Amino acid sequence: MALIEFRGVKKAFGTNEVYRDLDLDIHEREVITIIGGSGQGKSVMLKLLIGLLDVDGGEISFDGQRISGITEAQYAPIRRRVAMLFQAGALFDSLSTKENVAYGLREQLEMSELEISERVRESLTYVGLPGTEETWPADMSAGMKKRVSLARALAIRPEVLLYDEPTTGLDPINVTRIADLIEHLNETLDVTSVVVTHDMDTALAISDRIAMIQDGYVIFSGTPDELLASEDPRVRDFIEGNAPVDEDTETLLRSAG
Ligand SMILES: Nc1ncnc2c1ncn2[C@@H]1O[C@H](COP(=O)(O)OP(=O)(O)OP(=O)(O)O)[C@@H](O)[C@H]1O
Ligand SMILES: [Mg+2]
Repeated sequence: MALIEFRGVKKAFGTNEVYRDLDLDIHEREVITIIGGSGQGKSVMLKLLIGLLDVDGGEISFDGQRISGITEAQYAPIRRRVAMLFQAGALFDSLSTKENVAYGLREQLEMSELEISERVRESLTYVGLPGTEETWPADMSAGMKKRVSLARALAIRPEVLLYDEPTTGLDPINVTRIADLIEHLNETLDVTSVVVTHDMDTALAISDRIAMIQDGYVIFSGTPDELLASEDPRVRDFIEGNAPVDEDTETLLRSAG
């Protein structure tokens, strides 16, 4: 049995049918990356998993328990087991780094001040920012903010970590750093990682499996090697459209205006 199962999931917004009949298995402790064009429903998948949206039909289960079509109260115990790194990061500028990381702990878990301080310390160390408790988001680079957001997500010690475009908007050094962190945390914390990304290099580097969503279905799922070897024209178009542009080509395009 997979840890998370999507079975025949349907989801529409008005006449916009995002999922027609979506099936996907997510296995315990894997890094799975969700790829697909803009608007194909990648973020919707994460929102369904974190209980921000619900399905119109079909079923989602987590650890053998149905998590679609349930009430907010029934979802509450699940919320502690799943954490999300939001695309915008969304740190509170009025809170110190420590309080940003402690946020979910205060909201969701009953911990003493001492336990909170210890958990914050550990979490910041995991993301390579030890000792930054008394700093402020306004003084941080985009890459650091992303890592503090990640510390906040993992502070509750979730079993599943969801990442929405974790590398978008970062410079190449920080892209590599975040990609390495996702892999490292997956191993050290024994979590299951679901990563949505546009960045094919990152997807190929960190994934145990990759799933591609198109026109309401999962049209491919397999290893990075299987993805690269796929002869499905829809998969090929996507990979080729996202092929990394090398520096020389970039310079050429820039000089051509
Ligand atoms: N709350 C909502 N209300 C109405 N439509 C929505 C809502 N959330 C998502 N949609 C629509 O569902 C579709 C899928 O959205 P989603 O955000 O999952 O796309 P995506 O694959 O993450 O795209 P991108 O790569 O641009 O982030 C889009 O057409 C979007 O406009
Ligand atoms: Mg999205």
